[in-house]
Amino acid sequence: MFTPELIKKLDQIQTPFYYYDLDLLDDTLAAVNQHGLSKGYHIHFAIKANFNYKILNRILEAGLGIDCVSGREIERAIDAGFNPNQIAFAGVGKTDEELEIGLQHKIYSFNCESIEELIVLNDLASSNGQVADVAIRLNPNIQANTHKYITTGLNENKFGITIDKLPALFELLPELSSIKLKGIHFHIGSQIEDLNPFEQLCDKVNELQTVFEEKGHPLEHINIGGGFGIDYSDPDTHSIPDFKSFFELFDKKLNVRKGQKVHFELGRSIVGQCGSLISKVLFIKEGYTTNFAIIDAGMTELIRPALYQASHRVDVLTSKKSPKIYDVVGPICESSDTFQRGISLPAIERGDLVAIRSAGAYGEVMSSGFNLRDRVKAYYSDEL
Ligand code: LLP
Repeated sequence: MFTPELIKKLDQIQTPFYYYDLDLLDDTLAAVNQHGLSKGYHIHFAIKANFNYKILNRILEAGLGIDCVSGREIERAIDAGFNPNQIAFAGVGKTDEELEIGLQHKIYSFNCESIEELIVLNDLASSNGQVADVAIRLNPNIQANTHKYITTGLNENKFGITIDKLPALFELLPELSSIKLKGIHFHIGSQIEDLNPFEQLCDKVNELQTVFEEKGHPLEHINIGGGFGIDYSDPDTHSIPDFKSFFELFDKKLNVRKGQKVHFELGRSIVGQCGSLISKVLFIKEGYTTNFAIIDAGMTELIRPALYQASHRVDVLTSKKSPKIYDVVGPICESSDTFQRGISLPAIERGDLVAIRSAGAYGEVMSSGFNLRDRVKAYYSDEL
């Protein structure tokens, strides 16, 4: 990924910044196409993972739709050229204004997460003389084996309607004449590295689909959500996730009715590996137990290590000297502003360039202005 020519170019740019490899993004999308779209699956990119226009353009060209969780995300997707009928809208706390944005654009699906939300949406749609297409987000109570902050499908999580509320839902639905129940939706968590939770999800979906049918609600579509993980420890060997095994599992396990559509909402697995955060070493400080490599990027540019104890590989781009042990830390006034602890890296000095890898998803979008830092910039492989 980082050739000597590329490193020379990156070294000329004011750090810190995000660098996106659009060729890798295209190759990833080709794999999604080969193993997912070709099976007739409808795949929505979870725009929350990265909302840069250049990235969205490639995703649009590849034939994917969008999964949104805010009104602004709907507007961004439409502005980027996506058709509203390719847009699904989830979220536990949609405001009236955001629901109105969805109604105004006649989006494909409101993925409703509570009975109260259904009632509000029904009222808003009714006052506009509209009927809103809805999928019910169900909470299947499945352990996704991922970090607890990004686990979303357990009873204790705020997401979706729990199974015990189904009788109340079935009772209410006939009264809601301005919504049309089209599907059921799930999303059990993010950075799910083994397929086992997805296999359990298939069993649950099959079971719940029958319950809906028995209550007189045949489903036009099933939405599986996202969550497929990436390899943060070895992004060069596994630059493209194993979409073949992922989609084959659903192909094998999911009971799909004739004419029924199956949707996925993938974020991280599509854009995670194509982005790196590029930063320069400011100082090397010898500590009692380690050497601190203090770089000019911090939790303001990439919050994942501080928030989820996430480990992003750090590559030194400009040194091949014999290795030393470092804690790689940012400049922010918090001890959680640490990218890696006790790792072996080629000996580095002030001015060396490092790449914090696998940062294309939930990196730039979660950056902040804490400490009045500048908003981080982005550069793309096709413009360097
Ligand atoms: N669908 C829904 C309804 C979601 O809430 C999410 C992510 C996705 C799809 C996409 O999931 P993915 O394929 O990217 O795993 N900031 C965290 C991740 C939060 C994910 C939130 N929901 C992180 O940096 O790990």
